Amino acid sequence: MNRVRMCGHLVAPGRGYSPGLGPTPGSSLISRPEERSLESRLVASTAPHASPDPLAGLEDRRLLRDLAYLGGAWVAADDGTTFPVDDPSSGTQIAALPRLGAAETRRAIEAAGDALPGWRAMTAKQRARVMRDWADAMREHSEDLSLILTVEQGKPIAESRAEIEYAASFLEWFGEEAKRLYGDVIPTPIPGRRVVVLKEPVGVTAGITPWNFPSAMITRKCAPALAAGNTMVLKPAEQTPLSALAICELAERAGVPPGVFNVVTGAAEDAPAIGEEMTSNPTVRMVGFTGSTEVGKLLMRRCAETVKKVSLELGGNAPFIIFDDADLDAAVDALESCKWRNAGQTCISANRILVQRGVIDEFTARLVDHARGLKVAGGTVDGAQIGPLIDQQGFDKVTKHLADAIDGGAKVATGGGPHELGGLFLQPTVLTDVTPDMVMSCEETFGPVAGLIPFDTEEEAIRIANDTPFGLCAYFFTRDMATAWRVGEALEAGIVGLNTGFVSTEVAPFGGVKESGLGREGSYYAIEEWVETKYFTFAGL
Ligand code: SIN
Repeated sequence: MNRVRMCGHLVAPGRGYSPGLGPTPGSSLISRPEERSLESRLVASTAPHASPDPLAGLEDRRLLRDLAYLGGAWVAADDGTTFPVDDPSSGTQIAALPRLGAAETRRAIEAAGDALPGWRAMTAKQRARVMRDWADAMREHSEDLSLILTVEQGKPIAESRAEIEYAASFLEWFGEEAKRLYGDVIPTPIPGRRVVVLKEPVGVTAGITPWNFPSAMITRKCAPALAAGNTMVLKPAEQTPLSALAICELAERAGVPPGVFNVVTGAAEDAPAIGEEMTSNPTVRMVGFTGSTEVGKLLMRRCAETVKKVSLELGGNAPFIIFDDADLDAAVDALESCKWRNAGQTCISANRILVQRGVIDEFTARLVDHARGLKVAGGTVDGAQIGPLIDQQGFDKVTKHLADAIDGGAKVATGGGPHELGGLFLQPTVLTDVTPDMVMSCEETFGPVAGLIPFDTEEEAIRIANDTPFGLCAYFFTRDMATAWRVGEALEAGIVGLNTGFVSTEVAPFGGVKESGLGREGSYYAIEEWVETKYFTFAGL
């Protein structure tokens, strides 16, 4: 196949979110003057909706913590400074949290180091009991956790409930899996010897998590880490620290010993100092990160200095391919979970929707119909399906992608700009005549925008799908078995969904190839990331 270079390698790789450890990608892509007027039409209204306390409905207000958690103690920043946490639906401030820096992070790492011997000495069964209690506590408080999540992140409450169950499932599943962290006995080639393999915890670990899944991305890291006997210092995204602290409160109640799980909060400006301490401190032996490829590379470079293990779940640019023989209703439904979910702010969102020419008109009509029926509203509103984007930076990125596509010849089939609610709300948008070289085809848009790219042949679809530095997830729709195998094997992605847009589960390995990351989260493959393999030989027997 003659590989045509489209846009895949020409732009700075990036995911729509960053934990603030480096520059945010994709923010200055449009410079041509003729685009400015269109862009200015797409700029969000700055008049968000005032609201009374959106967290007033919490049953257990002790879940709403406004301090960081170090060595089993709730603490303020050494200098007493705080940063605001806002509700993206209204733009109002909902909390002020401590701005920690390098010194507090160092103390958290020391606390995790002090807690390590006791925690790793517990049996897997004892650790599993604690983790099961933690998962049960999350389920018991699901309504409160969901409300906190929706208010700080913006996603519809139904999605938050699903995320809380998803988050709890990692704690439960990995607690159980720790009991099966078997070693090995290898037949010896030397008489009088035994060759044994032990699986041991890595030690003190660090987790850095994003705002788009403020609960599940935490447990997807800390569950395998803690189950295997490690301790962890976690830095949640500055936009969504309340979910992390609520989970922490429940960890404490479930009996996670002091120092085993620590949460370091900080503003975007504090992230470089916190990240630098996590990646340079020799006590930390592994860093797990979900976020942009750009920041992932930075962390990897820093971790190289002390040869730490890394597990990186980075940016995606998922193709979603619809062949002529596809079940079109199933394909439209699938976009519910992989395009409109979380307003398109997931790393596995369908970013390039490739539709074979024989069905493009029919598919477009059905998708437009579906998009027009989606309810755009604040996440706590009954029946909300599309919430606000996370912040102005995220909003601006999507509107720039829209402007670039429209300027390049894409047509707006529905939506196309800010929603009448104003603030950070965008209309669910379907664009036709999108081309593979447009910015929205080259970078994650991270918004409720479905761009349709027509194609003629299977070979062309695969070429377009793979022409990107990313390879996290890919989806395709066909009823033909031979096509299914051929295309499934040809797609360069760590996760492939055939006839579905839903691939997330604690039992399966989640992770990417190429610049989408290293390692896997979820499943028994993931627990292997968080252990060291020790070869132990006995001689003179
Ligand atoms: C992500 O966006 O990073 C996670 C999505 C998922 O697990 O479903």
